[in-house]
Amino acid sequence: MCEKCKGKFYITTPIYYPSAKLHIGHTYCTVATDAMARFKRLQGYDVLFLTGTDEHGQKIEDKAKEAGVTPKAYVDNIVEGEGGVLDLWKLMNISNDRFIRTTDDYHVAAIQKIFKKMYENGDIYKGTYKGKYCKPCESFWTESQLVDGKCPDCGREVQDAEEEAYFFRLSKYADRVQDLLENTDFLEPRSRVNEMVNNFIKPGLEDLCVSRTSFSWGVPVDFDPGHVVYVWIDALFNYMTALGFQNDKYNDLEKFWPADVHFVGKEIVRFHAIIWPAMLMSLNLPLPRKVFGHGWLLLDGGKMSKSKGNVVDPYLLAQRFGVDALRFFLLRSFPFGSDGNFSNELLISTINTDLANDLGNLVSRTVAMAQKYFGERLPEVQEADAEKDGELLELAGTLRQRYAAQMESYAFQNALSEIFKVISRANKYIDENAPWVLAKREESKPRLARVLYNLLETIRICAGLLTPFMPQTAEEIGRRLGNPAMDWDSLGTFGVLPANVAAVNGPALFPRIDMDKELAALEELSKPAAPVNEDPLPEPLPEIAFDDFQKVEMTVVKVLTCEKVKKSEKLLKFTLDDGTGTPRQILSGIAKYYQPEELLGKTLVAVTNLAPRKMMGQLSCGMLLSAQRGDKLHLVMVSDGIAPGSRLV
Ligand code: MSP
Repeated sequence: MCEKCKGKFYITTPIYYPSAKLHIGHTYCTVATDAMARFKRLQGYDVLFLTGTDEHGQKIEDKAKEAGVTPKAYVDNIVEGEGGVLDLWKLMNISNDRFIRTTDDYHVAAIQKIFKKMYENGDIYKGTYKGKYCKPCESFWTESQLVDGKCPDCGREVQDAEEEAYFFRLSKYADRVQDLLENTDFLEPRSRVNEMVNNFIKPGLEDLCVSRTSFSWGVPVDFDPGHVVYVWIDALFNYMTALGFQNDKYNDLEKFWPADVHFVGKEIVRFHAIIWPAMLMSLNLPLPRKVFGHGWLLLDGGKMSKSKGNVVDPYLLAQRFGVDALRFFLLRSFPFGSDGNFSNELLISTINTDLANDLGNLVSRTVAMAQKYFGERLPEVQEADAEKDGELLELAGTLRQRYAAQMESYAFQNALSEIFKVISRANKYIDENAPWVLAKREESKPRLARVLYNLLETIRICAGLLTPFMPQTAEEIGRRLGNPAMDWDSLGTFGVLPANVAAVNGPALFPRIDMDKELAALEELSKPAAPVNEDPLPEPLPEIAFDDFQKVEMTVVKVLTCEKVKKSEKLLKFTLDDGTGTPRQILSGIAKYYQPEELLGKTLVAVTNLAPRKMMGQLSCGMLLSAQRGDKLHLVMVSDGIAPGSRLV
């Protein structure tokens, strides 16, 4: 088949709630989608990869209120602000072709038209909603769906809710949706089909409440003021409005719809595998080809969530380990369809084993030997030796096929395993052929060139196939091999690398990480920030003239001795080096906050022109500066590098 006319491929991630900063769980799905999109581009498909943000709903309205800003300002900050969604995707090297925000005008207008169409065709009607509502999940549930009376998704309390609302005739489509799920491969992994059919369809699919009147941050129902469209209706149609459905902003519907695959987390499979196809059926629109429900990244066996305070920060990990190592880890360590337990140990050991030891060593050893034994370029190589080279050549030459089969079924972990089997085999091949022994005799140099060529060519194929996972690393390896072809055709053939390849070395691609040190550093870095002091701010003092301020002499002093004052619970007595050569005595009422020993040698600040006064019969010549809020007090300490006697100005 002609690789250049493979056709189109439309892939999406869920659009994210910008209700808080994104964590590693969100990053997981987007990195997987990116790997898939890059794989399809590599194969020669015309790819459209969509991601975006889902910005309406009560949760956002509430959060904005809490923050004292408008909902739009609130989401703008999380989406476009520093360290926000767009920044994270840029950092993670996400190659999305389009980014939709559900607050974009074209989307809002399109949703209004879509809602009206379904109202006009009779699939949306007005009624009264009575039921249970989970506010954090923005989901309505029937009594039978609750688990122990709580939200089945997040386990939180649900509220009784009753309001006039519009409903979508979901029940009408129950049989068609069940047929779609059971008799086609629309939903994967297949284990999720039973879950959908048994938990949601068989107990009786009820009509879905699709408008709200209790808050206003949503797409207004234009023919009935006061109602806003249910956020999931608004959100699901993003997959089509971003192509130009019911709007003129884009014109790609014909080319890219239906989507080839929607990647979604397992808790939102229900929306994508039941509600979404039913709405499309109502509008007589083609259904997406596939919904793939991936598993969760768990932390200590539970779901990460901002409210539980157990989220893992992708920025921190990318900064410490590199973007490619993080991307690789996410897809190498967990089967995409199942849950996986995240841990820093697993992350570090994956990097050390696969990237530093196996891949990194293979590249650096091979390139270093090529340079050492042949300098600039390999000479023309002799024929391969069927016995000694056969296995490696066969494995590397057919890798693309095995890899593609795994990628086509979204088995990223297995696709990577296929590559790493070849990398391991190549490392073993080095030991079997001992190039350093061949290098000793002039007559074995042609064989040595062949061995190194086989290794370099194996590296080229592996690096090319790693591109979807680690784009920057693949490019760097390519550079070290003299930028050979790494297109899809070339990756299916052994022997594409020019025989006289010039290999260049470079720094370690993935330096080995010291596990204990790194774990300790990560723990330190993820300690919560200092607690906020809730005590009221002190009353402001009246303004003073600059001249008055200048009358205060503040001097850096060093603690020479410090002891408790007998019979006083409050006072500590200090002798201080104030730079004059004569120790200064100051008494300070801070015994409740400090033990004398801990202050010895500290560099503090004192007011040194305060009139001396007697306290408990002892003279105090000045006052030590401290910061106080409520019942917390801290002496002002300055750098030990500042000499006693220095004046604060
Ligand atoms: N806004 C909806 C999606 C609408 S799509 C039309 C939404 N947003 S979300 O921000 O809450 O979640 C986005 C995706 O991140 C979901 O697919 C969810 O499963 C995924 N993840 C959130 N935490 C996760 C993990 N800990 N692990 C893996 N994926 C997780 O849902």
